[in-house]
Amino acid sequence: MSGGTGFPVPTWLIGCGNMAAAMVGGWKAAGLGFDAVTVVRPSGRPVEGIRTQVDYPVGDPPKLVLLGVKPQKLDEVVPALEPRTGPDTIIMSMLAGVAANSLAERFPAVRGVVRIMPNLPVQQRQGVTAVYGADAATVREVLPLIELLGMAPVCAEERELSVIGAVAAAGPAYVARFAAAMGLGGAGLGLDPQLAAQVAVQTLIGTAALADDTGESMADIARRVASPAGTTEQGLAVLDGPDGLQPLVDRMLAAAVRRGEELADAARRN
Ligand SMILES: NC(=O)c1ccc[n+]([C@@H]2O[C@H](COP(=O)([O-])OP(=O)(O)OC[C@H]3O[C@@H](n4cnc5c(N)ncnc54)[C@H](OP(=O)(O)O)[C@@H]3O)[C@@H](O)[C@H]2O)c1
Repeated sequence: MSGGTGFPVPTWLIGCGNMAAAMVGGWKAAGLGFDAVTVVRPSGRPVEGIRTQVDYPVGDPPKLVLLGVKPQKLDEVVPALEPRTGPDTIIMSMLAGVAANSLAERFPAVRGVVRIMPNLPVQQRQGVTAVYGADAATVREVLPLIELLGMAPVCAEERELSVIGAVAAAGPAYVARFAAAMGLGGAGLGLDPQLAAQVAVQTLIGTAALADDTGESMADIARRVASPAGTTEQGLAVLDGPDGLQPLVDRMLAAAVRRGEELADAARRN
């Protein structure tokens, strides 16, 4: 069980798509009960073990709202949700690129706004969820729920949350692409494509487990694999070259951060 951590009564999950469902999976794995929770989603598609409905619940205002819609849907949600919030409501938003002050303007009567930036491995309680809020007491209140899902760095500056988002929230997609590319590369060298893909994925899993078990840095692991003048060293020389991996990763992260800034601008203008 979770050492007494639970959902405030009542808690509303607004939207339960990919990301919110992954968080729900992590909370279920942590043994949390969902009696206090209602999911509101337009499809009404049931979320197993949780009251799910199309309309907003009647009765007391929510103590906690987890906003799990796409950023572009925010202004569809606000007119219905805002009047149902109260002075004890905490809005916890996972919307990429929508700044805390843009949210506070849309929900002027609530107790506080906390932004989170989770990643999909929260489902396995191996996630990274960056947390940011202007009010430290409000952050402290939601933090135990987030900590059940893995690493939960609290950001002093909102920009830090965007950067962690670019590295960790988007990260599973980047790591997955790299592993897929390794598999495709193996197939290009003549391996059966399915075997090549499996070998690449298991290498990813094994390397992560090795780092987790030993606490070794990724640099140390790479050093341990690459014996002087061996095959790995030749491969690393390509990755470490001037047109190698780091400049590519820098460009990739910069593109994601830039898109976050565009979304933030759009949310401010609306
Ligand atoms: N995916 C990630 O890895 C990731 C990582 C970090 C942050 N995020 C953030 O998480 C948020 C959701 O992303 P996602 O990938 O989970 O999207 P998604 O799978 O498309 O889920 C969106 C959810 O919003 C619901 N929804 C749409 N309109 C609504 C409305 N008017 N009222 C209530 N619910 C509504 C949908 O309901 P139905 O299911 O009924 O259609 C769906 O459950 C985004 O803001 C994104 O920036 C995602």
